[in-house]
Amino acid sequence: MVTVNQQRFPRKRTYLMCSPEHFTVEYAINPWMDVTTPIDRDLAVKQWDRLRETLVGLGHEVHLLTPEYGLPDMVYAANGAFTVDGSVYGARFKHEQRAAEAAAHHAFYESQGWRFVAPSETNEGEGDFAYVPEAHGGLILAGHGFRTEIPAHAEAQEALGRPVVSLRLIDPRFYHLDVALAAIDDSNVVYFPGAFSAASQRVLTQLFPDAVIADDEDAMAFGLNLVSDGANVVLNSEATRLAGKLKAAGYTPVPVELAELKKGGGSVKCCIAELRH
Ligand code: ARG
Repeated sequence: MVTVNQQRFPRKRTYLMCSPEHFTVEYAINPWMDVTTPIDRDLAVKQWDRLRETLVGLGHEVHLLTPEYGLPDMVYAANGAFTVDGSVYGARFKHEQRAAEAAAHHAFYESQGWRFVAPSETNEGEGDFAYVPEAHGGLILAGHGFRTEIPAHAEAQEALGRPVVSLRLIDPRFYHLDVALAAIDDSNVVYFPGAFSAASQRVLTQLFPDAVIADDEDAMAFGLNLVSDGANVVLNSEATRLAGKLKAAGYTPVPVELAELKKGGGSVKCCIAELRH
């Protein structure tokens, strides 16, 4: 059981973000995207900047990737790679429209001296991979079903030397793992069971008996697409129910408004890649 009002301790993080200066919805590769919906790019930049300031205000370090014209989804920086203990497993996007983003992330990691493992398999970085460092000695959770392909899970395990647990996503609205599940501290997760196959739900119950469970309303508000430092949980302001559940479990919800970026099918976590040195 999650102890009510248990004290939670934050750990300083390093993140990578990319400004939505060139954000548009000009193609639709997930059910949230509608090319006829008008986008207010200035508002998107403003909301994104508020998110960045929130992270900095919590004491975290934020690196920036230079946005590129013609790559409107580049703001979703979580998809460009996945890092564990100083190693990076590069992304290889499913959709042609986003393919070129991988090279920008690769160049960033190279310039910072990371050990970079280039992928041969289709995978969308932290969109479909999560790391829980104190769970079972350090566990990688990996989604498949829509974007990342199963062979990439084995490739990530070889690249990063941590066990990878494959989880099957079954609802197209929750096309990436990070819209259905998030690590809330070093050993626990929050997730929406309905996004996963029955077998994968069993696996999650076995591995995380104390998980915080979200409902479909939380999930539809992009509540699961959150970033936690172990105590402060930055999440979409519309996810008020989930914020209440997290508060009851001893975390401090930090709501941020990201309505413009929701039109591309993403929220808080999609905009942030964690750099795990
Ligand atoms: N429009 C983007 C796509 O469909 C959104 C990516 C959201 N990112 C995420 N980590 N879930 O690829």
